Amino acid sequence: MKTLAHRGLSASYPENTLIAFQQAAKLDCWGVEFDVHLTKDNQLVVIHDESINRTSNGKGFVKDMTLEELRTFDYGSWFSPEFAGQQIPTLAEVLEIFKNTHHQINIEIKSDVFEYPGIEMLVANQIEAFQLKDRVIVSSFNHETIMRFQQMMPSVDCALLFASLIINLEDYVRQFNCNAIHIPYYYGMRSIIQRVIKQGMTVRAYTVNDEKITQQMQQLGVDAVFSDKGIL
Ligand code: G3P
Ligand code: CA
Repeated sequence: MKTLAHRGLSASYPENTLIAFQQAAKLDCWGVEFDVHLTKDNQLVVIHDESINRTSNGKGFVKDMTLEELRTFDYGSWFSPEFAGQQIPTLAEVLEIFKNTHHQINIEIKSDVFEYPGIEMLVANQIEAFQLKDRVIVSSFNHETIMRFQQMMPSVDCALLFASLIINLEDYVRQFNCNAIHIPYYYGMRSIIQRVIKQGMTVRAYTVNDEKITQQMQQLGVDAVFSDKGIL
């Protein structure tokens, strides 16, 4: 089964930090996934939440701080004292780690709470600068972001993220220039998902940390799973 290391190798290292990505880059998994937000000074940074409260020793929203301000905090010790000193990475720093590996790189643009105007163009510029058009999958829960990104980079693979299922899924997805969706794994057995898989849609499932569920996903025709363990 194809797997993507979710937020880097986040089962063993603090999620979305350089050490989590350096360790993921050593794995023979299919890909890596991470989340991108925009700072007050328009820098792309890799972190899951809108705020730094859960994964650092600081408080506040990413959007309200400059990169320099964000870098005054520690993003490792919340996970374990041995990772004290880990920094919030920029998108460029993470792409640098994977630019010469075999991994697929799933950039999730986290524009579904704060819209971060202009974030799509900034991500597109980085993909271009690192010449990674062939190895990137751009996804978002904000489907307007996907629409905008596809207008800028029609040749880059995209995927629509869903937290729950909608009726007329096939008709909805047809509006986009992509045939891939990322869904919670427990929807894999729903008849609508089975139907779209049979029709040829690529379905990837998050977040799977159990080998038995991975096998189940494979039997259901799911293309790949996101796992905090990287490989199952
Ligand atoms: O991209 C798959 C998965 O990461 C989406 O959910 O909340 O972990 O970003 P979340
Ligand atoms: Ca994510």
